[in-house]
Amino acid sequence: MICSWAHVWNLEMRRDKLRHKVKWEFSSRARIPTGVRGLDNMLGGGLPSGTCILVLGGPGAGKTIFGIQFLCTGAIEHNEAGLYVSLDESPLYLRKNMECFGWNLTKLEKEGKFSILDLSPIRTFPSEIEASFVKMNLTKMIRNKVQEVQPKRIVIDSLATLVIQFPNIVERRNSVLELFQTVMDLGATGLMLNELQTTYRGRELRVEEFLAHGVIVFRTIEERLKILKAIQIEKMRGISHDSQLRPYTIDENGLKVFSKEKIFVPASRIRAGT
Ligand SMILES: Nc1ncnc2c1ncn2[C@@H]1O[C@H](COP(=O)(O)OP(=O)(O)O)[C@@H](O)[C@H]1O
Ligand SMILES: [Mg+2]
Repeated sequence: MICSWAHVWNLEMRRDKLRHKVKWEFSSRARIPTGVRGLDNMLGGGLPSGTCILVLGGPGAGKTIFGIQFLCTGAIEHNEAGLYVSLDESPLYLRKNMECFGWNLTKLEKEGKFSILDLSPIRTFPSEIEASFVKMNLTKMIRNKVQEVQPKRIVIDSLATLVIQFPNIVERRNSVLELFQTVMDLGATGLMLNELQTTYRGRELRVEEFLAHGVIVFRTIEERLKILKAIQIEKMRGISHDSQLRPYTIDENGLKVFSKEKIFVPASRIRAGT
C-alpha cells in the first residue's frame, strides 16, 4: 500500500472536519431555558432540547415548584405549550398553590398553553385487578395526552408514583424507556421529578438514573445550626456544564440559584434522604 504525504494529509483533513462537525453539533444543540436563571447559567443557556432529565430531591425540596416554573417559562416567555402529568397532587390544589408565585395556571390552560393530565387517583386504587389495569394503561394515557396536546415541555410529577406500579425491574425499565421515547418522539423536553432515596450505605442508584439524559439533584446540607439548600447537575449528556454544588432559595418568584456562590461541605454534612 502506498502511503504518501498527500494521503496522510488527506486523512488528517477528513479527521479534522469530523471533529469540527461533532463539536459544532454539540455546541449548536438547541437549549431550553428552565426559567431559573442561575441554573440556566450552570447549563450554558438551558437544558439540551429533546432530552429527558431526572430531577431528584427530598420532600419540600422544591421539585414541583421547579417543574411548574419550567412550564410557565415556556408558556409565557417562549409561547411553548406545556403538559404537567400529576400523579401525586390534585390539580385543584396545584392551581391554588401556584398562585402565590404569580402563576395563573387556569389562564394559561384557557389560552391552550398549559394542560394537566390528572392521574393522581391511581394512588388510591386498592385491588390487584385495578392495579394491573392501571399498569396496562398508565403509559398509554400519557402517550395519548402527549399526542393530543403536542407539548414542547413535559413534567411528570412524580416518576416514583408511576414506577411503583412496576415492581418488576424489567417492567420498570420498559415503562421508563417507553415514557422517555414518548417525550423524545415529539421532540419535547421532559422533567421527571423523583424522590431522592438514600440507604445507610449512601445513595440508592435506580434504573431511571442510568436511562435519563441528565440528572439534577436538590440537596439539603446542615451548616452548623442552619439548613442550606443546594443544587447540583450530576449528569447532562452532550453539553458541558457546571457540576459544582450551588446554593438555591425559594421565594415568591419561585426558585433562585446562585450560580457564582460556592459551597464547601464534607459529604457527611449532606443529609441522608434529602
Ligand atoms: N411562597 C413561598 N415562599 C418561600 N418558600 C416557599 C413558598 N411556597 C413554598 N415554599 C417552599 O417550597 C417547599 C415546597 O416545594 P415543593 O415544590 O412542593 O416541594 P417538593 O415537590 O420537592 O416536595 C416548601 O416546603 C417550602 O419550603
Ligand atoms: Mg412535589
